[in-house]
Amino acid sequence: MTQRVRGVIAHGAGAPVSLETVLIPDPGPGEAVVDIAACGVCHTDLHYREGAINDEFPFLLGHEAAGVVESVGEGVNEVAPGDYVILAWRAPCGTCRSCRRGKPHLCFESANASQKMTLEDGTELSPALGIGAFADKTLVAASQCVKVDPAAPPEAAGLIGCGVMAGFGAALNTARVQRGETVAVFGCGGVGDAAIYGAAISGARKVIAVDIDEQKLEWARGFGATDTVNSTEVDAVETIRELTGGLGVDVAIEAIGLPQTLEQAFFSRDLAGRLVMVGVPAPTMKWEMPMIEFFGRGGSMQPSWYGDCLPTRDFPMLIDHHLNGVIDLSKFVSEKIGIEEVEEAFHKMERGEVLRSVVML
Ligand SMILES: NC(=O)c1ccc[n+]([C@@H]2O[C@H](COP(=O)([O-])OP(=O)(O)OC[C@H]3O[C@@H](n4cnc5c(N)ncnc54)[C@H](O)[C@@H]3O)[C@@H](O)[C@H]2O)c1
Ligand SMILES: [Zn+2]
Ligand SMILES: [Zn+2]
Repeated sequence: MTQRVRGVIAHGAGAPVSLETVLIPDPGPGEAVVDIAACGVCHTDLHYREGAINDEFPFLLGHEAAGVVESVGEGVNEVAPGDYVILAWRAPCGTCRSCRRGKPHLCFESANASQKMTLEDGTELSPALGIGAFADKTLVAASQCVKVDPAAPPEAAGLIGCGVMAGFGAALNTARVQRGETVAVFGCGGVGDAAIYGAAISGARKVIAVDIDEQKLEWARGFGATDTVNSTEVDAVETIRELTGGLGVDVAIEAIGLPQTLEQAFFSRDLAGRLVMVGVPAPTMKWEMPMIEFFGRGGSMQPSWYGDCLPTRDFPMLIDHHLNGVIDLSKFVSEKIGIEEVEEAFHKMERGEVLRSVVML
């Protein structure tokens, strides 16, 4: 039977979001309905509502979520009703050319629900990143549900579903930070701080945090930043060179999504340094670079989608690290809010007041 739940909808570029009734069909073959317990507010939700991802409005926002499987459709055997899961926006298909090549973390045909959730008038919704979890319940592909230890509280667990995984994975999987390396992270929001945390637990000897906000820099120290650079006060590239004996860092991670910070990250590297791009640029942004600068400095430049994670491998790993006290995911949770407070949470994010506001359902 179709269910009616509350969901946060973005109708047009820049327009404030609204809380509306969302219709959820029973799960079909390969699908699951998940009762959402918590969903973090990621900057990518704000990118969606600004029209900076695509124009497939209306969006059902929210994609950093943990919850409990309520029901599953035909042929689903990976999860069952009652399972505690984190929702993943990458669910490798196993059959595309990337999966077949042994690179499921780059799957080109990641699974989503085939049926649509709609508004009361039948308008089909685009769930953010194929999830749509600022809602009491949502419909996903069952393979997007990753079972984890229910001992981890949902407000912390849910964050692994996007920002925390993207940041940790950028350091652990994409950059493969090695013990003794030097790392600079540009942007100390939830994603950047997770990259700082990941670099620190990987044994980096210096982790330099760069931001324009003093409060963010102070929080970054709490995740393992050894040095902080306020790029409104000093030249970030020069300061990073000074902090690394004139050399630059082995790894620079950009977690903002701006041309100027990508350029700073590029030039803050040592020769043969690795540049990892995590921040999501708007479609109109351009980056100009003399080719000789790329060639002459060597090294690499690599975008990192979802921290190159394999959700079934990496989500339980981060949960176990949390439960064992290796990391403390609760440090990312700035506040718990109600579902009607998402628009205000976007403004808090823009004003730099929070790392993560988490909607509790
Ligand atoms: N690649 C992925 O898979 C992935 C996943 C999740 C999020 N993201 C992207 O990562 C980025 C960060 O997300 P977030 O949720 O941490 O956002 P956020 O808004 O919480 O953090 C951004 C940080 O950048 C800082 N900042 C802004 N302009 C700056 C500048 N010019 N110089 C230095 N610092 C600056 C802000 O003060 C803030 O601390 C976004 O673009 C988001 O869309 C990417
Ligand atoms: Zn695939
Ligand atoms: Zn996200």
